Amino acid sequence: MADSLVLVTGGAGFIGSNLVDALLAKGHSVRILDDMSTGKRSNLPMDNPKVELIEGDVADAALVTRVMAGCSAVVHLAAVASVQASVDDPVRTHQSNFVGTLNVCEGMREAGIKRVVFASSAAVYGNNGEGESIVEDTPKAPLTPYASDKLSSEYYLDFYRRQHGFEPAIFRLFNVFGPRQDPSSPYSGVISIFSERAVKGLPITIFGDGEQTRDFIYVGDLVQILVQAVEARQVEEGAVNVGLNKATTLKQMLEALSEVVGQLPPISYAPARSGDIRHSRADNTRLLQRFTLGETTPMSVGLARLLGR
Ligand code: NAD
Ligand code: UD1
Repeated sequence: MADSLVLVTGGAGFIGSNLVDALLAKGHSVRILDDMSTGKRSNLPMDNPKVELIEGDVADAALVTRVMAGCSAVVHLAAVASVQASVDDPVRTHQSNFVGTLNVCEGMREAGIKRVVFASSAAVYGNNGEGESIVEDTPKAPLTPYASDKLSSEYYLDFYRRQHGFEPAIFRLFNVFGPRQDPSSPYSGVISIFSERAVKGLPITIFGDGEQTRDFIYVGDLVQILVQAVEARQVEEGAVNVGLNKATTLKQMLEALSEVVGQLPPISYAPARSGDIRHSRADNTRLLQRFTLGETTPMSVGLARLLGR
């Protein structure tokens, strides 16, 4: 398996570029397809001859088919990661978040590639399982175009599994944080925004009362799982939650951040975002059965790494 060529869509982004480093460390070569909408060349070790970057859109079916040539597996991460962006512009985000997946499936079918690792989301559960840790069989209740596109992508991958013998490893990621998460837009992940603003002394806005919870996982812990899925001899059916089964309120996260940074800037409150999920916590029993999670990175350590301290 080592020294195989792995296609990583969205590989110049936050999770993708951390995954690229982990795949290279395991001896693989990596081809990246990324439209650089949020991804950055500077996230990638471009001087490594095992890294190839193709700039383009996963919504471009012909391009997606071309970039499959010679690859043994695909990790499909390219998407507009912001839930709020999908609420504001469902048509645009659907192209990346659903049409892109369909193109990846068709490209793989033509190229005869079976293994695909897909980044789905905890968002597919909506507010079901509120207050409990969420098992994979919990009824799905997508509240946003983002969640609908992720759930539809899962269903299509399962169709290609049944019809064309695909081996999809589908991960419902909870909230991932760590180095290279781009803080530059209001659509960015909350930890990246709050960390940057805390360091610069800029005011922070909490949407809602700050008591909403997320199950945060450090990106380095996630990519170890993704690499295992790329390399696994076989893939078991059914999506897998990726989280730590730990609920942290935004206020608790800010406390942890203040310990790392030393102080917090002024905090104001604004109305909760529409479609925002109130509580989110992964039952990770299936993850622990199928993959090796190892010792996970505490939030304070992850925050310190994110801030380069
Ligand atoms: P990110 O924005 O850093 O990465 C997404 C990458 O995809 C970027 O490099 C971007 O330029 C690229 N991209 C976007 N649209 C594209 C298109 N149409 N064609 C080609 N490339 C395109 O975000 P991330 O947090 O690294 O997210 C990676 C994946 O994980 C996404 O699918 C996201 O939905 C999913 N996910 C993320 C989280 C999280 O907490 N970060 C949680 C659940 C799921
Ligand atoms: C995040 C991911 C999404 C993923 C989902 C899985 C991003 C951008 N989003 O969505 O891809 O599928 O987890 O659970 O990575 N908030 C504030 N102030 C801010 C920004 C955010 O209070 O300035 C709040 C939000 O309203 C929300 C919480 O913080 O309640 C988390 O927001 P966000 O980081 O955008 O993540 P999710 O919407 O959970």
